[in-house]
Amino acid sequence: MMAKNPEFDPAAFKQFEHDGWGEVAGTYHDTFGGLTRLTVEALLDAAEVKEGTRLLDVACGTGNVTAAAHARGAKAAGLDFVAAMVSEARGLHPEVEFTEGDAEAMPFDDGKFEAVVSNFGLRHFPHPERALAEFFRVLTPGGRFAASDWIPPGVYGTIIMDALEAAGHADAPPASVPPPYNFADQAAFGGLLKAAGFSAPEMREVTLLTRYPSPMHLLDTIYKGSVNVRNRLEALGAEARDSVNRAIVEIAGRHEKNGAIEIPAKALIASALKP
Ligand SMILES: C[S@@+](CC[C@H](N)C(=O)[O-])C[C@H]1O[C@@H](n2cnc3c(N)ncnc32)[C@H](O)[C@@H]1O
Repeated sequence: MMAKNPEFDPAAFKQFEHDGWGEVAGTYHDTFGGLTRLTVEALLDAAEVKEGTRLLDVACGTGNVTAAAHARGAKAAGLDFVAAMVSEARGLHPEVEFTEGDAEAMPFDDGKFEAVVSNFGLRHFPHPERALAEFFRVLTPGGRFAASDWIPPGVYGTIIMDALEAAGHADAPPASVPPPYNFADQAAFGGLLKAAGFSAPEMREVTLLTRYPSPMHLLDTIYKGSVNVRNRLEALGAEARDSVNRAIVEIAGRHEKNGAIEIPAKALIASALKP
């Protein structure tokens, strides 16, 4: 069991996430969705998704993973707790089924799915153990779970922390953050999976290349596609935020390569079996 953060308010965090994703639902797909798309096929491979697999994609956002599973011939369904995200997903992928609902209390029968996946979802749930228990419940015995998360420093550590420092705001208070779960740590994540009843956890690190046509596109990715970092920067106030934005554009410009901004990142893909 992980240490609890006494200052963490789960209900406030869930509301913060719900409001925040609602604000960017219409612009997520063309901004941050371009980053999360990079792990889709590796995630589906880890969950052994193939033609006919009954798959659930939890915290599906605009449905990039759900649609890719559908393209493999899986019987794919997506779930997200933000109505505007679900509506975007339905608009982008009318052939796929999407449901509005909370990962921590899912509106599905026990054993309904042969694979459950979540692409960069777990860090957004205030009670990840509850979500993992739900994933276990809706899987059939022999079914697989797979999830991804960013491995630091990532784009945040490479660009935004440096920009905050360069602009003199390194001590800017963080936005609300979940308790100290660490889904990029193989041992910690493996322990959580085992505690939820899963067996044979497997871990795979993938190296990604995030690309932005220009530094302004990187800013758009933050302000039109993210929640936690966007809120952290918005909390600075207009003047300080402008100076951080200028620093982001300047630092991003140093990563120009092949006519675009290229920033390497890594993700951990963890998978496990419901015995
Ligand atoms: C970083 S986005 C990832 C979206 C998508 N999986 C992807 O790969 O692009 C996080 C998503 O989690 C959803 N989310 C956050 N908390 C949730 C919860 N408790 N239940 C269901 N969805 C949730 C948000 O609405 C948002 O769409």
